[in-house]
This record gives sequence, C-alpha cells and structure tokens, in this order.
Amino acid sequence: MLFCSRGLLILAATFIVFVPFVSAQESMPGMMIPMMGRDTTTAPALPRGEMFQPIAKLENQSHQQNIFKADVIAAPTEMEFVAGKKTIVWAYNNRLPGSLIDVNEGDSVEITFINKLPQPSTIHWHGLPIPPEQDGNPMDPVLPGQSHTYRFTLPEGSAGTYWYHPHPHEYTAEQVYRGLAAPFIVRAKNDPLKNIPERNLMISDLKLTREGAIADNDAMDWMNGREGQYVLVNGQFQPVIDLQGTERWRIWNASSARYLNLSLSGHKFTLVGTDGGLLEKPVRDLQQILLSPAERVEIIVDTLGQQGATNLQIEPYNRGKMGHVAVEKTTKIATINMQAGNSISVPDSLRKIDDLGATQSVKKIIFTEIMSMANGQHSMQFLINGKSFDMARIDFMSRTHEVELWEISNQSDMDHPFHVHGTQFQVVETERNSVRVVAPYRAWKDTVNVRAGETVRIKIRQDFPGLRMLHCHILEHEVQGMMAIQQVK
Ligand code: C2O
Ligand code: CU
Ligand code: CU
Repeated sequence: MLFCSRGLLILAATFIVFVPFVSAQESMPGMMIPMMGRDTTTAPALPRGEMFQPIAKLENQSHQQNIFKADVIAAPTEMEFVAGKKTIVWAYNNRLPGSLIDVNEGDSVEITFINKLPQPSTIHWHGLPIPPEQDGNPMDPVLPGQSHTYRFTLPEGSAGTYWYHPHPHEYTAEQVYRGLAAPFIVRAKNDPLKNIPERNLMISDLKLTREGAIADNDAMDWMNGREGQYVLVNGQFQPVIDLQGTERWRIWNASSARYLNLSLSGHKFTLVGTDGGLLEKPVRDLQQILLSPAERVEIIVDTLGQQGATNLQIEPYNRGKMGHVAVEKTTKIATINMQAGNSISVPDSLRKIDDLGATQSVKKIIFTEIMSMANGQHSMQFLINGKSFDMARIDFMSRTHEVELWEISNQSDMDHPFHVHGTQFQVVETERNSVRVVAPYRAWKDTVNVRAGETVRIKIRQDFPGLRMLHCHILEHEVQGMMAIQQVK
C-alpha cells in the first residue's frame, strides 16, 4: 500500500484488474460506431479543500554524479476520488500525476520503462532536445509486459519545464486521460531565480461516470477534445495552497483538450518562463495567461503584502467548440490562502536568448477539419495539409542544423495547439484577419496555440537526424489523424 500525492490511500492493483482491450479504432467517430458513452451527467461529489500536496520526486537509483537512473512503471492503479468508490486509473509508479523527474543540465538520464498496461505504450519526453530513437515515437512501441530503457543526455541550455506521457499509435489520448502524465524539470547551473521558493502545479482533467469509473470518450469528446467534470491540480480537486511572500510556480497543462485561461482572480503575477525555460525579461503585472493543452509556464506569484483568500481559476475562453456545448464559465481550481511574508524581487534581466537567425527554407502546415455524413452519423476528420496521419509516410523533410520558417495555418473553426517533437522553436509572429502581430518577446516553445483562422510563423531547427512527430495536442485530434512526420537528415 502506498500514499499517492493526493493524500489518499491507494492500492497497487496491477495484477487483479481486468481491463478490456478495446482498439482505439472501434471507439473513434470516424468509424461509425454508435457512441454509447456511460452516464456522466450526474457527477459524483469529490472532496475539496484538502491541503495542497507537492508532486513526489522520482528517486535517483544511480550513485554516480550527473547520472539519473530510475524505473518508470505504467500500470492500472486503484484510487479513491469519490468517497467509497474505487477508480481504476492508469498511473506511472502508482501516482497521479506521475513522479517528478528533477535533473540538471549536463545530466545523463536512463529510464527503464516497464509496461504493465493491457496496451502497447511508449514514454515520450515532451519538449526535450533528445535523439528521436529515445523519444518514444509511436513507431517504437513497448508491448504489454515488456520493458525498454530510454537513454539521453541533457545539453547545456536545455533548462526548462517539460513532461512525459505515452505516445503509442492510436492510444495516446486514452492513456493520458486514464492518468499517465508526469512532470520533468531540467535545472540550469546558473539560475537567476534560485532564491525564490518553487511550487509545481500540474493541471489535468478528470471525467468520471456516476459509478466513479474513468469515463470513455463520447462523440463530443472525439470532436471537441475531452473535457471532464473536474479539473485537478496535482491530482487534487480544489486544494488549498498556502502562499507566503514570493513563489515561483511552474504550471503544466496536462489535460487532453481543456484550455486553461488562468487567473488569480485579479491578483497580478509575473511571467518569467515558457516551455523551454526562462524568458529574457520578466513580463510583469499580468492578470491572465492562456495555456493550451501541453503548454507550460513559469510565473512569479507574490502576496504583495495582502492577506486573505483568493482563487486560482480558469476564466472563459472561446476555443470554437462545435455542437451544443455549455457556456464557458469561470471555474475555480484552487484556493490560495495569502499570508504575510517576505517579497523577493525579480531581476529585470533573466538570460539572453539568441534569435535562431536567418531562415533557409519555408514550410507550410495547414490544419483543416472535414465533416461528413454517412449512414446517418456524422464523422469528423482532422487533417494536416489535407492528409490524415500515416505512420508509413514521411510528410516533411528537413536537414539537421538548418533553420526553417514554418507557417502554421489553422483553416478550421476550432483552435488547435501545434506541437513538434525534439526541439524548442521561436514564435516570430501571428496573423489573423490580415493583422500581423509580432511576438511580444523572444521565448522557447514546443507547443503554440493556433486560433481558428490564424497563421502562426515560427523559426525552428532540428539538430538530430531521424523521424519527428508534429501534431495537434488536443489528444483526440492527434489520435484521429491530425499528426504528421518530419524526417530530419
Ligand atoms: Cu506531448 Cu507528441 O506530444
Ligand atoms: Cu512532444
Ligand atoms: Cu486539434
């Protein structure tokens, strides 16, 4: 028996659980299978107001300096979200979210992945600049009952806020919504914010049936991306965070499809970092920050001498969902109890980010959706450059170390977060309704939201040869084909 990071009693139930093996194909709307979602209309009550729990760190099994070595086991795990009801999640090392891998620039990492799931899986190291054959591509599945060791070294300059999650062919959405996702932090040798206490907030989404089981995706989930009844922070529902003085928060959007337009209900904060680490300068006095699925930020929160409670909440944001959907409303995800404490000031300069420089070629990436009616049932197709994903097809060719300009155009009616593996890119500008907006600051990103009707231009360079995935990070869209392969030579 173990205590998970939610503070609830959980049991490792790896060998007694029967999980039916249903192919993702069968449950996709494009396949014209009737959508018999289980009843999720009556949401069971989840306990709220527990004390916020930090995410446990994965212990280093190596005794050598600069080597991080550990096992990561993916397995069905029993948890109790609703009092008296058991929920079988799929978890890394029996925790939800999975354990934090916390390493330094220059470290070599060796993770043995043990797959105790009833499906093939992989571990993808989202955002890390590592060779493709170590990056958990869908072409390299680890079958049920098997294990595989991933090895990579984290280069200088890679400090940032990353995560790891499964990436098998057709099962990524399901495996992530069943609970498989965990944070990964790479630390810099010289961190200008070293003196500020840190807190990690991994935000995920939970959809339960009335019986307390993880619900299957229904037709709406496959179309708009899955959004559950509950938003969890570190696996907890509306926990209470005690904030004293100044803190540095790393925030992950680990949900399948939910957009997090985060605010501290009017209390201001400072943005200091994005997916790939610190900005050049802090962006002060923000009231809101939008995190599309898979994006991360680092922010500085400060009580500013105030006392009392405020909320961490999601403000309405229209991402163009289709069909009859509920009106977006403000959703509280945590209570922040502000207490007096010492303020620590944030320096005006954080680090230098060099521009990626002159681009040598241009690529166009176009997101579209097609709706069709067949046999009285509608089906959706989510496409990149008019094509649905094919694991055997190369869609884009690039050369190592060559800087390219990519134009990502969203010609659909819904926002899609664009993500590419293996590197961090720089957003140059966005364009919508013929209005071009130059990126307000230089930042390293691996995921960027592309609004409906918008074009985002990025500079990008891949430094390792091999195959890279690029896709929409609404995982239901990724599973249904909104993904392509870049071959780097
Ligand atoms: Cu976070 Cu291709 O993934
Ligand atoms: Cu990725
Ligand atoms: Cu999408």
